[in-house]
Amino acid sequence: AVRLRVREALGALEPADAVQVQGWVRSVRSQKEVLFLHINDGSSLENLQVVADPSLENRDLTFGSAVEVQGKLVKSPHKMQNMELKAETIRVVGPCDTWSFPLKMKERHPLEYVRQFPHLRCRNNTLGSLLRIRSEATAAIHSFFQDNGYVHIHTPIITSNDCEGAGELFQIETSNEARESAEKTHFFNVPAFLTVSGQLHLEVMSGAFTHVFTFGPTFRAENSQSRRHLAEFYMVEAELSFTESLQDIMQVMEDLFKTATSTVLSKCPCDVELFHKYIAPAQKRLFFFSSCRISYSEAVEILRQASQTFTFKPEWGCDLQTEHEKYLVKHCGEVPVFVINYPYDLKPFYMRDNEDGPQHTVAAVDLLVPGIGELCGGSLREERLPFLESRLQRLGLADAYQWYLDLRKFGSVPHGGFGMGFERYLQYILGVDNIKDVIPFPRFSHSCLL
Ligand code: 4AD
Ligand code: MG
Repeated sequence: AVRLRVREALGALEPADAVQVQGWVRSVRSQKEVLFLHINDGSSLENLQVVADPSLENRDLTFGSAVEVQGKLVKSPHKMQNMELKAETIRVVGPCDTWSFPLKMKERHPLEYVRQFPHLRCRNNTLGSLLRIRSEATAAIHSFFQDNGYVHIHTPIITSNDCEGAGELFQIETSNEARESAEKTHFFNVPAFLTVSGQLHLEVMSGAFTHVFTFGPTFRAENSQSRRHLAEFYMVEAELSFTESLQDIMQVMEDLFKTATSTVLSKCPCDVELFHKYIAPAQKRLFFFSSCRISYSEAVEILRQASQTFTFKPEWGCDLQTEHEKYLVKHCGEVPVFVINYPYDLKPFYMRDNEDGPQHTVAAVDLLVPGIGELCGGSLREERLPFLESRLQRLGLADAYQWYLDLRKFGSVPHGGFGMGFERYLQYILGVDNIKDVIPFPRFSHSCLL
């Protein structure tokens, strides 16, 4: 028999004899004359309908069981589906005790419910669709950069620097047994951490490649239970050399967003539709066709004039809080908003001084989107040695960042880049409220299941 994936069987143009399909039973419906099964193997949201003689029914053939079906692929008499499988044999490969199985047939389980079962929730429709979309989106992002001449760099996960300087670091140590034999020194001789951003390593590479990107796991010890933060998330980062304007960076953010999103929409329309129909039916979807741009100073002005009262009083020099981001997006008409030129003292050491006053603002850009808040963060980098040297000195970091200063001594060029949170991107395009539902195994404070 020819083995077919469910997706292939559903899309087949011609009937075929001697076909084999393997998968998991998503529904069993037994009638007097005929037994109906729906089989799913992860290749599509749609199940393959199997039609069998009731004599093929057996006790183990239940919702959730793993089966192997052989038979004939025939045109389905039903308008809703193209093909169905007329079973000749059905073998239960692995039975499933439906009584104790947490997922139930034909039930639309809430996302919070399936979140309790990270080892089983991929068998649920919503998570199934999410994981196919996530896979396509990953490929689309890689293609976008590759097609535009960027070189992919595997930036390290273990690092000795704190790129963002925000102190949200996980430090790495060996387990106790290993430490005893190493006589209580650091494994790497120096303190080491899980990366909070691949940016500095990309900047190294941007001294030889004008366009580089990285897309990997990123770690932050954020003590927050928010629906937009994880302790382990994926970040897409790009770095461009010979770039003197934030406009160039914003353009890449926008192009990346548009290209990846249209690829995802065209590659998995049914999976995306499931989200748009059942998870966020009310959400308006104006993917970036218009966006708005304001400076940080304008943003603070808008917030100060707002009739709304905020928990955090908006003041020049303070970080924009979630409530502020929300208001700004609403103020601009629920479209993505680029906020540029932030206060010097708010931002990490590497951002470029705008010289619009003594250490007044830096060339930073954040992209805020409806329902999520910050999706991307980027900046021009300080490429001028004296500026960077004095800033690092003031921060007491000059010794640790000698290598970074070297980059400004040997062929330094104006450059810049950005990072986009991959999970927040998925949340935004799909309308998923909680970030824990767009990653297969969410890690956050007080929770590391599996
Ligand atoms: O704004 P961030 O901190 O920027 C950087 O790390 C820069 N070094 C990137 C660069 O220029 N190469 O983080 C970038 C994005 C945020 O806008 C947000 O979408 C996401 O990463 N992000 C998180 N996503 C989920 N959980 C968290 N704890 C996140 N922290 C940041
Ligand atoms: Mg940021």
